[in-house]
Amino acid sequence: MTVDKKAIALSFSRAAPRYDSVAHVQRQVGEAMLAVLASEPAAVASALDIGCGTGALTIQLAPYAEHITALDIAPGMLAVAQQNDQQRVISEWVCADAERLPFPAQSFDLVFSSFALQWCDDLSRVMADVYAILRPGGRFVFSIPVENTLRELKLSWRKAESRYHHVNDFPALAEIQGLLDVSPFLTLQLQERLDVVYYESVRELTRELKTLGAHQVTSNRTHSLTGKKTLFKMMSNYEHFRNHQGLLPASWHYCVIALQKPR
Ligand SMILES: C[S@@+](CC[C@H](N)C(=O)[O-])C[C@H]1O[C@@H](n2cnc3c(N)ncnc32)[C@H](O)[C@@H]1O
Repeated sequence: MTVDKKAIALSFSRAAPRYDSVAHVQRQVGEAMLAVLASEPAAVASALDIGCGTGALTIQLAPYAEHITALDIAPGMLAVAQQNDQQRVISEWVCADAERLPFPAQSFDLVFSSFALQWCDDLSRVMADVYAILRPGGRFVFSIPVENTLRELKLSWRKAESRYHHVNDFPALAEIQGLLDVSPFLTLQLQERLDVVYYESVRELTRELKTLGAHQVTSNRTHSLTGKKTLFKMMSNYEHFRNHQGLLPASWHYCVIALQKPR
């Protein structure tokens, strides 16, 4: 997948003001991430949050680091995060791409990233860059959606229209495991998790993805080429997943990973 970074930055900037109202899964993922940090509660000197979004999690890094840097590719997200940081716990704001981290070697003791790295072209490169900017003994804690995320939506689109790619391809768990196997990081934790969110209608789900800013990549920008007939076909295919409570599931399959640079 080649990622259109400008489109991502624009899409998330537009989504920023309403993002928190629909980021239910992201909040659950965040709780799992913070639990990992709490397992080693001593505060370090400096932390970086890559893809900080509206800063909801970045602010919660305060007990774990004295100096916190928030980085995002979307200026609109950084603007909302700055407004949300009323206690001024974040020391530095950086608008940059995770695949071009603008920091010298050994700048941080903790690098954190929740649900952002799936929009990078090359996760192995990000891991290598994070390794370089961490001090020895520093930790890299991140979460990333994997292969079965939004599988119901993906299957419903595929049955309706096979020529276009409507849902983002998330990396396979085996692919991530393979990257960890060859990386110089020590793996402290690799949790595989599944959260299922339920909706009354497919429209409710697609509207939520749009509000999250995720539609640009998950739709592969083919909506303008997709007729109403195909859209209705997809929605009718999704109905096969309706459960006994009359609700439609949307699966979020993801990993929470804690790595350490050897001392
Ligand atoms: C789903 S949001 C997650 C935000 C936040 N971490 C959270 O958990 O609520 C993904 C964030 O990653 C940012 N992002 C996407 N690609 C990025 C990249 N290449 N470099 C930096 N930030 C990126 C987006 O702008 C967005 O703010």
